[in-house]
Amino acid sequence: MRVATQPIDGQKPGTSGLRKKTKVFMSKGYLENFIQSIFDATGGATGKTYVVGGDGRYFNDSATQTILKMAAANGAERVIVGQNALLSTPAASHLIRLMATDGGLILSASHNPGGPEEDFGVKFNTANGGPASEAVTEAILARTTEIREYFIADHTDIDLSRIGTQQIGGMEVSVIDPVADYAALMEGLFDFPAIRTMFAAGFRMRFDAMCAVTGPYAREILERRLGAAPGTVVNGDPLPDFGGMHPDPNPTWAQALMAEMFGPDAPDFGAASDGDGDRNMVVGRGIYVSPSDSLAVLAANAHLAPGYRGGLKGVARSMPTSTAADRVAEALGIGCYETPTGWKFFGNLLDAGKATLCGEESFGAGSDHVREKDGLWAVLLWLNILAERKESVSEIMSGHWHRFGRNYYSRHDYEALPVEVANRVMAGLRDKLASLPGQEVEGMTIGAADDFAYADPVDGSVSKGQGLRVVFTDGSRLVLRLSGTGTEGATIRLYLERYVAVPEGLADEVQAALAPVIRAAEALAGIRAETGRVAPDVIT
Ligand code: G1P
Ligand code: ZN
Repeated sequence: MRVATQPIDGQKPGTSGLRKKTKVFMSKGYLENFIQSIFDATGGATGKTYVVGGDGRYFNDSATQTILKMAAANGAERVIVGQNALLSTPAASHLIRLMATDGGLILSASHNPGGPEEDFGVKFNTANGGPASEAVTEAILARTTEIREYFIADHTDIDLSRIGTQQIGGMEVSVIDPVADYAALMEGLFDFPAIRTMFAAGFRMRFDAMCAVTGPYAREILERRLGAAPGTVVNGDPLPDFGGMHPDPNPTWAQALMAEMFGPDAPDFGAASDGDGDRNMVVGRGIYVSPSDSLAVLAANAHLAPGYRGGLKGVARSMPTSTAADRVAEALGIGCYETPTGWKFFGNLLDAGKATLCGEESFGAGSDHVREKDGLWAVLLWLNILAERKESVSEIMSGHWHRFGRNYYSRHDYEALPVEVANRVMAGLRDKLASLPGQEVEGMTIGAADDFAYADPVDGSVSKGQGLRVVFTDGSRLVLRLSGTGTEGATIRLYLERYVAVPEGLADEVQAALAPVIRAAEALAGIRAETGRVAPDVIT
């Protein structure tokens, strides 16, 4: 069936797909226009195969039905969909690759809250399993501005609870177990017997799935296959509103887990994942591991897991992520890449075999096993390392810092700012950048300052305006950029880093260690002065 439509403003994919308020997505023609634009901008859907699934948030199921009917009307040959329309982002990426499909549609607004009043999103991944490149998202955006019609099959809803094959006209719909293939992939990468032995010997863990999509994956892998005690996984049932929680695994939103890990009788290891399962937070007994440090530790120890025994080809991190991983790469004699924020920039490096591990300060880590960050993967690699090294998380961290030095690191977010105020702050610092080198602030000398631009070493494409950075001669840094995933006003992210070659000790308070850099940021960018805010909304 052909339906006439009109272009809808603002369908520009951000850092990770198109995210809007759920109500916006549910408004007439909104989802349909965007999906048709994806098909149109990528050579049409005729004869193609796609993977479809999402994180279970409100509207996930009916959006999936719409996409299935649209794929059928656009001539797709087959759609592989997770049972009950569920697929974590990394599992979807894996399926796109495993089944050699033409791409996939992942329904998620990641770590943003879900529900009728909250957020929804659609991500399009290409045949390599990774997020569409900027060239593709620009073509999709262009199509949304000229679309006049979309196609949708007039068909009853598919029973997505039933595993097996059904048809919409000439298109096959394969409803599959969302967990099985992913679990098999993990079993091939990690030493499950060693981890099982560790659990059998009394190792205790808490995994907070935050009422989001990772619950079924974590239960199957941790509790069933690895023998972690029943109840290890909490908040394990995906709920349309994530139980009212903010499914973002960081110390602010995963408070219950933090309290347990810092309380009496804490388990040996704690972890959490986000709405769509690509983020992770890792906590030891009485010690929080920052994502930047986690990436560095994973890089330094990955060879302990069977999937990485041959060593790493290289490590990549987003520009605002701390340089802790760079020190490991240097020691290992492997390549180290600095990309703009967003997983899509890692795809080429992974495809070209330049990098094996990638990570971002925003609780994302992953490897070349898929083309997305992967929360549970990071947790399993940690478990494998713990099982091999037979040390606690704090012993591993302390050993790491003594060997490589410590990059104190934090991100301060100022959320829901009026757009013009946020733009003024950015412009204020941007205008000063050229004059900064050589200046002294808070007793530190500025060595370099620029607006980060990235030239992709594989395809030569250049991405400009990727964050303002000020680097001090002692290795300390501050970075300022605007979020590309928010759905309300503008969010300024201030990233702070200070390197100490001989760390003073585990108990150091990170914010105190960063105090001079925090003061320098205010002196240079005046965020608080300009916005009238007295403190960041979220500190990670
Ligand atoms: C945020 C993170 C970024 C991550 C993205 C998707 O984007 O900062 O590292 O890739 O979410 O999970 P931002 O809102 O900063 O554009
Ligand atoms: Zn996510």
